[in-house]
Amino acid sequence: MAKMWAGRTSGEVSSIADAFNASIGFDQRMYKEDIEGSIAHAKMLARQHIIEESEADILVEALISIRDDISEGKLSIDETAEDIHMFVEAELTRRVGDVGKKLHTARSRNDQVALDMRMYLKNETDEIIEKTKSLIAALCEKAESYKSAIMPGYTHLQRAQPIMFGHHLLAYAMMLLRDIDRLKDCKKRMNISPIGCCALAGTTYDTDREYEASLLGFDGIAMNSLDGVSDRDFVLELLFDISTEMTHLSRLSEEIILWSSWEFSFIELSDAFTTGSSIMPQKKNSDMAELVRGKTGRVYGDLMGMFTALKGLPLAYNKDMQEDKEGVFDACDTILMSLCVFAPMIESMKVKTENMKKAAQRGFINATDLADYLTKKGMPFRSSYKISGEIVAYCIEHGLVLETLPLSVYKSYSELFEEDLYEDIDLINCANRRNSKGGTSVGSIEEQIRYVKEQLK
Ligand code: ARG
Repeated sequence: MAKMWAGRTSGEVSSIADAFNASIGFDQRMYKEDIEGSIAHAKMLARQHIIEESEADILVEALISIRDDISEGKLSIDETAEDIHMFVEAELTRRVGDVGKKLHTARSRNDQVALDMRMYLKNETDEIIEKTKSLIAALCEKAESYKSAIMPGYTHLQRAQPIMFGHHLLAYAMMLLRDIDRLKDCKKRMNISPIGCCALAGTTYDTDREYEASLLGFDGIAMNSLDGVSDRDFVLELLFDISTEMTHLSRLSEEIILWSSWEFSFIELSDAFTTGSSIMPQKKNSDMAELVRGKTGRVYGDLMGMFTALKGLPLAYNKDMQEDKEGVFDACDTILMSLCVFAPMIESMKVKTENMKKAAQRGFINATDLADYLTKKGMPFRSSYKISGEIVAYCIEHGLVLETLPLSVYKSYSELFEEDLYEDIDLINCANRRNSKGGTSVGSIEEQIRYVKEQLK
């Protein structure tokens, strides 16, 4: 395609340089935003009497038809165009003649690309928020079903204290709620329009940037033209937010992988979300969770890539900034796909409550409660802690558990032990007595579910 910027130069650009320079391969996904931005620009130009009203009508109508033709597959994007902005403008001029050449008055590709990116990423952010909500809803529903399923809670991957499975799942719901909060906050800063900053210095035309921004649904305009075209903070922020959310998905993935192992056997994923082995007939692998965990690495790479591309750039636009796209598009695609598989994977997983309970019964996770029992009867906590430890050591040595250890043995450690100790170290009771706000008791879980549902509204 002929270069629209030819004039200063007359020599042909080498085909290798052309291919290296082009971004149309990856920025064509912003065609709708590019056209929407151009429609608003044409309207603003007419309103400010920079072009005729009738000219704006021609431009708007043609832009709409170009958008529809691309959407319906009637117009294919010419990959020899340098980028999507050039392609749309060239197609417009091909359709309406010279009036098409007026559209680029009082703007530059520098503010245009910054605008398109903000518009495109605003939509992506909304979609990530929606999909995250679906996952939270799935977690909430499982938590409701298993609000009294006892399992060991872990620290250092060692069995620590009894918790309910619902409580564990809700921990992830809370993380994801914060992820949504971060995304919404990021969107606030993204929702500032750079259009009208032009190449870098603003323009001599009597434009109305606020009007154009409001047509496009922005909350305000960039207040410094150099900053408007140079700022990619919103890309960094979104990449950070996606990276953080992927971290949460990755941690949950890791647990799903562990829980699905024979060693844990706490859950079984549905066949729809697992794969088999080509050689070992017995295998059922949690590939989806492993992929989410693996893809988290590349999303971090996208974030680091953007940071590194920006760190040495002088103001204002530099071609390095074309590198803002593939990374963030990849991060958006990755998290959206991850969320798409995650919600149904959680919904369809089978929870093996018996195995969780068995694991809870091994590992002396009620030892804290045994110590608390003695403390309640008047013994200083450090002393009760020591005695409980000794009783645990005795049980380990003799292959016994606290729940069935005879009272006579308990009494040999302390005369404070009575029959009611068995109530206190019952696992379900242990969990339900942790009814402090945010604790693992059924009552607290119900309160958490109400909180999460309220936040999702
Ligand atoms: N394709 C370019 C990008 O993605 C558009 C901006 C080009 N501006 C320029 N002065 N060459 O960043």
